[in-house]
Amino acid sequence: MKIIHVVGARPNFMKIAPLLQSLQAYPHITNYLVHTGQHYDDNMSAIFFRELNLPMPDLNLDVGSGSHAQQTAQIMLRFEPVLTSQRPDLVVVVGDVNSTLASSLVAAKLHVPVAHIEAGLRSFDRSMPEEINRIVTDVLSTLLFTPSRSASRNLLAEGIPEEKIHFVGNLMVDNLLNAVPPAKARKAWERFSLQPGHYAVLTLHRASNVDEPEKLLGLMKAIREIAKLLPVVFPIHPRTASRLQAAGDLHILTASAGLILTEPLGYLDFLSLLSQAKLVLTDSGGIQAETTVLGVPCLTMRQNTEWPETLETGANRLVSPDPDQLMAEVTRILVHPFEQKPRPEGWDGLAAQRVAKVLSDWSPR
Ligand code: UD1
Repeated sequence: MKIIHVVGARPNFMKIAPLLQSLQAYPHITNYLVHTGQHYDDNMSAIFFRELNLPMPDLNLDVGSGSHAQQTAQIMLRFEPVLTSQRPDLVVVVGDVNSTLASSLVAAKLHVPVAHIEAGLRSFDRSMPEEINRIVTDVLSTLLFTPSRSASRNLLAEGIPEEKIHFVGNLMVDNLLNAVPPAKARKAWERFSLQPGHYAVLTLHRASNVDEPEKLLGLMKAIREIAKLLPVVFPIHPRTASRLQAAGDLHILTASAGLILTEPLGYLDFLSLLSQAKLVLTDSGGIQAETTVLGVPCLTMRQNTEWPETLETGANRLVSPDPDQLMAEVTRILVHPFEQKPRPEGWDGLAAQRVAKVLSDWSPR
């Protein structure tokens, strides 16, 4: 059986790495890795291949950046001939980025079955581009691997037949559990002259927070206030850096004694920082899950989340990106940290093995 695995953007890499590793136990499966090139900077892409021991992609489509339509269309145009020449039995896609949607569409139209890892996540907010990507990819998929019980329920509620749905747990946690000891040993906080447990980590890149200048400036004002209470390390996503630059001046808007700006970090350095943070401020999907496993309090600056388990069993809380509310929540956490409960079901480090077993038993009709 020949499988083409498609990755494109930063959050894809840590989910495909454990799967490719687990599939080595099944010699009847041949794996071919395609990188769409949606993310291309060294610190958004190549560093993850090195640190996660991912094999070099067999092919890079080099699509780069563009509007949603441009990026999606370019991936489709460049992926179609790959499928017709490689003729795989299955295409595996991950997560909810434009690369996920574009490659699933091409495969489905060529009658190549699609397996979707991280199927069924829903924020129920169709203004998010990722929600559109998730819904369409799930409709097109033959095998749907869910990271949580609520994701399986979402799929059933949308009429996806039960036999297509496989609850496997969270593949991102597979990497995380292995990487925590080496990540902690790197002591990335020392590079920023910080003490473990005495700083916050901030990430911000979601279109809904950074694309409207007024909103972004309000958020930065609140962050500068927070940084007066507790040092804040801010590895800045290229999208956010360019939006801040366009809204004024990146360095003026982030100038505050306690606010430490840095380039996007690699997997291990970022995990190192997260693991010893007093609290995390983010609008990322994956970081909500990672802080839940690490037991680090997380404030997610969004109105909704596709990871409801992190609210129920983890250390995550949604906070409106309104500056006053953000400040109030941060002050509250500094006094009363969240109570940590057991990890969600299936977040046990064995999710990739469960996916690999299903794939090895699956046969193309
Ligand atoms: C994409 C995903 C988002 C995911 C995020 C993780 C979609 C719709 N969005 O958002 O779900 O959470 O990745 O980072 O797929 N850029 C660079 N270098 C790079 C990549 C991007 O400079 O290596 C800049 C470009 O200016 C680009 C902008 O970042 O226009 C946005 O990149 P894009 O891939 O369109 O979306 P992300 O915001 O990264």
